[in-house]
Amino acid sequence: MIEYIDSSRLFHLHNRFLSVVLSLRPDEEGSPELLTAYIGAPLDAPEAVLALLPRWEGASFDSLRQKLPYACPTEGRGDYRPPLVCARDAEGQNCTELFYESHRIDAGKPRLEGLPASYVESSDEADTLIITLSDPLTGLKAEISYTLYRERPVLALSVRYLNRGTEALTLEAAGSACITLPGRYDLIHLHGAWAKERAVERVAPAALTRTVSSARGASGHEHNPFAVLAAPDTTEFEGECLGVILVYSGSFAITADENAYESTRLTAGLNPRCFRWNLRPGESFQAPEALCVWSPDGLNGMSQAFHSLLRERVCRGFWRDRPRPVLINNWEATYFQFNHEKIITIARAAADLGVELFVLDDGWFGRRDDDNCSLGDWVADRRKLPGGLKALAEEINALGMRFGLWFEPEMVSPDSDLYRAHPDWCLHAKDRRRTTARRQLILDLSRREVQDYIIDAVSSVLRSAPIGYVKWDMNRNFKETGTAAEGVYQGEVPHRYMLGLYRVLEEITSAFPEVLFESCSGGGGRFDAGMLHYMPQTWTSDDSDAVERLYIQYGTSLCYPTSAMGAHVSAVPNHQVARVTPMKTRGDVALGGNFGYELNLAAQTPEDMEEIRRQIRQVKAVRETTQRGVFTRLSSPFDANLAAWQFTDDRRVILCAYRILAKPNPELTRIRLRGVPEGEYTAEDGSSVSSAVLMNAGVPVPFPRGDFASCVMVFEKK
Ligand code: DGJ
Repeated sequence: MIEYIDSSRLFHLHNRFLSVVLSLRPDEEGSPELLTAYIGAPLDAPEAVLALLPRWEGASFDSLRQKLPYACPTEGRGDYRPPLVCARDAEGQNCTELFYESHRIDAGKPRLEGLPASYVESSDEADTLIITLSDPLTGLKAEISYTLYRERPVLALSVRYLNRGTEALTLEAAGSACITLPGRYDLIHLHGAWAKERAVERVAPAALTRTVSSARGASGHEHNPFAVLAAPDTTEFEGECLGVILVYSGSFAITADENAYESTRLTAGLNPRCFRWNLRPGESFQAPEALCVWSPDGLNGMSQAFHSLLRERVCRGFWRDRPRPVLINNWEATYFQFNHEKIITIARAAADLGVELFVLDDGWFGRRDDDNCSLGDWVADRRKLPGGLKALAEEINALGMRFGLWFEPEMVSPDSDLYRAHPDWCLHAKDRRRTTARRQLILDLSRREVQDYIIDAVSSVLRSAPIGYVKWDMNRNFKETGTAAEGVYQGEVPHRYMLGLYRVLEEITSAFPEVLFESCSGGGGRFDAGMLHYMPQTWTSDDSDAVERLYIQYGTSLCYPTSAMGAHVSAVPNHQVARVTPMKTRGDVALGGNFGYELNLAAQTPEDMEEIRRQIRQVKAVRETTQRGVFTRLSSPFDANLAAWQFTDDRRVILCAYRILAKPNPELTRIRLRGVPEGEYTAEDGSSVSSAVLMNAGVPVPFPRGDFASCVMVFEKK
């Protein structure tokens, strides 16, 4: 519910999980400024927090503006913390003052034009407050939108900037959200690199500006557009924290700034380093959405709120709530060296084992025998596939499996017919060399004709054969980000690229609503809520080693649901780290995501074939729970030799435990489950166990001997 209390000039946004108090307070000259006076556990008397705001009286050395929790801070007014907005006029002046002008409260949640965002299915799911701030001199306005979901601890924030003046302005920062919390906080974020994405890092409070960001034109492998401010004593199960995720897939910045007054400002939005936007009179600019979750129940409480929000109100479409198919992908089995017969041999073995979807990866088009050429030429290579995609897809369908296909539509190889025909269709800077990476360039998706080309090229392949799944890959990041299009301000190109990509994705995914789309970027280099709006799952990492995956999947789960994570069993020695792990462990780890295989199923030992058959049976029996149940982290591989997590719904509880290295003379591993619905459960050996025993006494975990041991225990509710 959202109320405006005129007598106190405050807005109270509240539900049974949280309160947000926004205050309209006069500055020293009486102009009303918007302050975020409170965000936290529900309040019965929101007026009380106004007394906690710093006052003009007693502020020495002009320090008050350093202390106030501005909702939309600007440059040039003596608030030296990172601003949310910076607008420069033609003379280079960037002083902006934003004062309250008006507000509106509506049921429901409006769409964000051209951008991915969370949504509601009916207007009674949420309420939205839109507050307009305005700069009297330049005519710049900021419409800040606050949506509070009625049954979730979630606040969605975004800002639309409008130029209602008479002179053009250049936006140098146009952020999405600014929240200031009193106190000092640990910053938790996810970092990494190719094949080691999303490790959890927890940084102690520091009187510094700490920034999580990407300047790559993609959310990136290095940082994720997600960060948490956690009280220093917050654990997985207890304590307060505020998580923020941007619904955006390009360059971003999330900044936590702590000052000398023990308050912490969090800003989130487009990365100002890679952003300039000309805002002419009459124009507007929509910043992406930031989603905030407040949890009093530790990090698991925050993660669970993000999981259900992203799964149910960011992901969309036919596959949103459907069990995801068990798949086989030929990449690590064949790389580029395959032909029709080789694929069919693997597919036959897969179908016999119960696999439901065959995915043909890179190498099926142009003359692509390696990664040197052909991106952009989306025509089947008849040397490898003499009957084309149609014959292959039909043969795979006849085996009882869907057929899926890899694309990398945003790219072009210099050695391609597309590049020879349109050398100016790639991102490049005038008169500079075009720097390749993986011997490819990036198509200029800021241009409408390039967007249309991609929509047509991908759509005509999808229409040419029975294709039920697409893996949408992206294997390099921005370097020279310019466009050859006439009259475009080059500083706008990085964000215009993202808008173009979102248009392409919207068009293609709506034209093929029953195709399951999975995004990918050299593994998990664009794993974010923006991509999940169009494609409900993402390839988590190119590292398919079971032990490495414990860390990657654990870190990813801080924010993203398991239904978003592709997780495959691959060959040993593993292709990324050469580790040899048991087939059972590889399956038990992949059970924590959208399950699949990435090896030659036609060349396994009889024992491994039996184990694979068992795994597929198990996945099909429990995937409703592993893909849609409540996911709880129990033990972190970052802290211990033991990783453990739990899936819970009203049918069953599943404990997944992994002991990384074997130890001599080991102690009994006992794990206490969490949040088990009250009742009696049947264990796999037929014995009975109560929810109280599972949670209070715990479960003895019978790990097998040896390194990289795993144990999955399923308890069915009676
Ligand atoms: C990177 C992806 O992450 C891999 O799974 C594979 O599809 C290759 N690209 C193909 O080039």
